[in-house]
Amino acid sequence: MKLTIIGTGYVGLVSGTCFAEVGHQVICVDSDAAKVKLLQAGGIPIYEPGLEELVRKNVAAGRLSFTHSTAEGVEKSDVIFIAVPTPPQPDGSVDLSYIERVARDIAGAMTSYKIVVDKSTVPVKTGEKVAETIQRYCPAKVEFDVVSNPEFLREGFAVGDLMKPDRVVIGTRSPRPVAAMREIYTPFQAPIIVTDINSAELIKHAANSFLALKISYINAIATVCEAAGANVQEVAQGIGLDERIGRRFLNAGIGFGGSCFPKDLSAFIKIAEQIGYDFKLLKEVQHINADQMERFLKKITDTLWVLKDKTIGVLGLAFKQNTDDVRSSPAIALCQRLIQEGATLRVHDPKGMDKARALLPTATYVEDMNAVAEGCDALVVATEWEEFKQLDLARAKKGMTHPILFDGRNLFDPAEMVRLGWIYKSVGR
Ligand code: UDX
Repeated sequence: MKLTIIGTGYVGLVSGTCFAEVGHQVICVDSDAAKVKLLQAGGIPIYEPGLEELVRKNVAAGRLSFTHSTAEGVEKSDVIFIAVPTPPQPDGSVDLSYIERVARDIAGAMTSYKIVVDKSTVPVKTGEKVAETIQRYCPAKVEFDVVSNPEFLREGFAVGDLMKPDRVVIGTRSPRPVAAMREIYTPFQAPIIVTDINSAELIKHAANSFLALKISYINAIATVCEAAGANVQEVAQGIGLDERIGRRFLNAGIGFGGSCFPKDLSAFIKIAEQIGYDFKLLKEVQHINADQMERFLKKITDTLWVLKDKTIGVLGLAFKQNTDDVRSSPAIALCQRLIQEGATLRVHDPKGMDKARALLPTATYVEDMNAVAEGCDALVVATEWEEFKQLDLARAKKGMTHPILFDGRNLFDPAEMVRLGWIYKSVGR
């Protein structure tokens, strides 16, 4: 199939590349001329495991190309995907102006029947608006269908999630685009759910807020565990083996972040309110998440007392492992709070340091994770990178004024840490 993807962020670039990988002809469009130039020259604007090789392979095979021109993409393709940002606004609602702009651009360039697919995460009822907009701004007055096809990829695992999705959701108000959408997704061998547009849009918000709820639930359980002298990891294991619950997304820590969960929760609460439902359950999910950070900070201040003039080493800046993304990262928020309290920071992240520099200009960036602890009064683990488990604890301990580790992601074994002579505080254990 001939496909165009408008927007080359995480979702757009990875989707376009994976569509090309299974044999479709794909044009990726972006309004950012510098980004298009970089992609045309073989560069990748984001870090995503496996993506660079896949882009290169499909460009070389002639199945994947990049352009600045929406009109070119619309003209040359049967199906046009919208994958532009839907950033949050101060009141929690979503800024849909990029979607609206792209809908108008597509409408202006359409001269024959097209399927316009929304892949960006949007509040329920956005598809109706997109259809209205295209109708209004299409001078050629050609037929079209709008489809909602939400994306469930996780950053850091985006290629794998796209190549082997758990499910594909296709929301449409007419049967006409279904065959083409099935043809696009058949190579991915996933269950395909065909539904109406509003349900498809809701599936995305409902899925992400359920996962966030799962994390806040285990974080609340962690607080109870601390008060009761229990171990949250054992509890997570014990409940997670029940297939109805499942073990995944039950890792307690300093809370969830990133460009999806916080934003999608706010947006879902907002759209629910607009259509008449006060989603108190999800508001509590937000509260628990915010509290989680405060509780962790309190552990640090209770132990170190005054933070002014203390040096703290922080392992982890990205919002989770396997990504360089520091947007809405709990690790960054924690660092900012520590700096506010007067601490000096030595920080390290395997991929996120470049992007963190603008947010934490006063921190010292340490290339070698084993050198972070040198001269520190305490060490903090803020992101769940697997490689932090290999930290040279003996070297870290030697370099510190006092061996104190605050493990915000439960990477180390408490009993072992105590045996090694550390003052060790983690979450819910
Ligand atoms: C999420 C959804 O998983 C994905 O399906 C959707 O398409 C986009 O939003 P992503 O934001 O990439 O993906 O990250 P995810 O892996 O879900 O992690 C989100 C946050 O939750 C991270 O800050 C992570 O550290 C935290 N988390 C995750 C926990 O604190 N505990 C867990 O058990 C799992």
